[in-house]
Amino acid sequence: MEQNLLTLIYLISSVTFIVGLKMLSHPATARNGNFVAAFGMTIAIFGTIFHYQEEGRHLGNYPWIFGGILIGAVVGTLAAKRVKMTAMPEMVSLFNGMGGACAALISLVEFDHLSHTDGVSVEPGFLLIIVLGLIIGSVSFAGSIIAWGKLNGSIKDYSFKGQHIFNLLLLGVIIGLAVYLIGWMPTQSIVVFYVIFFLSLLYGIFFVFPIGGADMPVVISLLNSFTGVAAACGGFLYENKVMLTGGILVGAAGTLLTILMCKAMNRSLTNVLIGSFGASAVGGGPSTSVQGTHKEISLSDTAVLMSYANKVFIVPGYGLAVAQAQHACHELEKLLESKGVEVKYAIHPVAGRMPGHMNVLLAEADVPYDKLLEMEQANEEFSTTDVVLILGANDVVNPAAKTDPSSPIYGMPILDVELAKHVIVNKRSMKPGYAGIENELFFRPKTSMLFGDAKKVLQDLVAEIKNL
Ligand code: TAP
Repeated sequence: MEQNLLTLIYLISSVTFIVGLKMLSHPATARNGNFVAAFGMTIAIFGTIFHYQEEGRHLGNYPWIFGGILIGAVVGTLAAKRVKMTAMPEMVSLFNGMGGACAALISLVEFDHLSHTDGVSVEPGFLLIIVLGLIIGSVSFAGSIIAWGKLNGSIKDYSFKGQHIFNLLLLGVIIGLAVYLIGWMPTQSIVVFYVIFFLSLLYGIFFVFPIGGADMPVVISLLNSFTGVAAACGGFLYENKVMLTGGILVGAAGTLLTILMCKAMNRSLTNVLIGSFGASAVGGGPSTSVQGTHKEISLSDTAVLMSYANKVFIVPGYGLAVAQAQHACHELEKLLESKGVEVKYAIHPVAGRMPGHMNVLLAEADVPYDKLLEMEQANEEFSTTDVVLILGANDVVNPAAKTDPSSPIYGMPILDVELAKHVIVNKRSMKPGYAGIENELFFRPKTSMLFGDAKKVLQDLVAEIKNL
């Protein structure tokens, strides 16, 4: 009876995960989708705690279990409440790493159990799952921590000559040791197991270290899928269907996102993982030297230009998130529309620092979704646009992606803003963006620079237009 109840709970949870994930695919339903999936996770956890039985006994250990839940819930809630929108990608990376660490810990604990069951023959399949969970979970944990440091700027890209070979060798040794442990080792050696653990952590670090600049979105999605697969290993291990479903969903969603991000960057996965060695660094890689002078535009000229335009495109980028200027941006859009100007947003798939960053940011300010155009659609409309206002975007509008084969972003599709009549770029200085490279767009004849913090500039612009 109790087993049937638990199966039913797991079934409901699995359905909520699928429905929640589906709802996450649209900004209008994403918030509720999160609640639906969180509800499923909650009943799965409490169902397991109170209804799971082994040899007729419940789990017990309640003080430990609830102590852990309480600490995790308090830390998680505080972190999520306090995190600034700009620090969201780092937090997602960190939490993803925690998922990987959990999967690796499960493997460590279960291997420890095995090594204490003297005389019991261990099924190779069982050991395979433990070792897989350990390797993938550890790589995901270590890699996500490095990604977290890179996203917040505390860790710089690092590579050395022959790192590509070193990484491949390291991976080869890990696989070799795993095969040896599972297939040939007469008594499962704890030392070999811990060596695999240590080398997997090392691999995670060296695998993410050299991947820089514009390629981070791909790595983040890939690590996400690793964590899902590692969690699914836990599901196999415990024959826990809901853990398996959750893990597979995360793994599959992460894999799809990786493919989409590769497409957005116009790179193959191999090219990202191997080809980018020694490429750019967060704010400090080799930057293409761009010659020329830029021209500035005043606030009042910008106000006139935009108010008398027929069609305006706004290109949001990471700087908009830094400035928390989404509300001011929406106000400008509404004001221009009240003057009969058609206003749309051009969203580049890797703008910001996490997939969907700009969509989330603009949704927070209640910008209608039908105003957000994906890159391909926007590129088709720029030629009929009077003014493009770029707000804190840089790499996603850098023409070097098309013209400079030596550029680390070469090949990445960009927003073709130069097809419009006027391009106005708002940022605080001439400093480069995430990929650490200069942007020739700022020196082109159609472009005018409007310097200042995005929020302040937008607020002043709104005031100026109102006074016209
Ligand atoms: P970036 O190229 O990073 O440029 C952002 C620009 O915003 C900077 O040049 C900065 O110039 C400006 N800025 C910063 N604070 C500002 C403020 N308060 N007001 C106005 N401007 C401000 O951004 P992007 O064009 O959105 O491109 C995203 C980059 O991040 C790509 O290289 C992408 O590959 C990478 N990345 C993306 C992701 C995902 S999944 N989206 C994940 C990791 C990395 P100033 O300092 O001069 O103001």
